[in-house]
Amino acid sequence: MNPSADILALSLVQVDLPPIQEGQRVTVMWSGRPVFVCHRSAEEVARSEADDRSPELIDPATDASRVKRKEWLIVLGVCTHLGCVPLGQSVTDPRGRYGGWFCPCHGSVYDGAGRVRRGPAPRNLEIPSTRS
Ligand code: FES
Repeated sequence: MNPSADILALSLVQVDLPPIQEGQRVTVMWSGRPVFVCHRSAEEVARSEADDRSPELIDPATDASRVKRKEWLIVLGVCTHLGCVPLGQSVTDPRGRYGGWFCPCHGSVYDGAGRVRRGPAPRNLEIPSTRS
């Protein structure tokens, strides 16, 4: 009962990372949902790692537990409250005080590792399964 090649192809999306500049965020679609691909700067990584033990983390997780390589953060762009797409992919978007994403629907704020820092969202942005 293995999926056919055409069904398997629908479940995969290939992203060419080298053209994505440091500091740039790109959105790709996967299974009808947005995926945020972020090429983080060293400053963004350091800021996120410094918050690993913050008592403000609603769904505690270290930065390292959410990435395969520090400079690449890949998360589903779906707010864990009611499923809206948070703002923050464009440099002109509001990103909230933690430099991640802001969901204007009800005010949830995510940091640069996609960790929820202000609810009502209950969980961090989901990490999709990725291959290198
Ligand atoms: S859907 Fe994002 S805060 Fe409600």
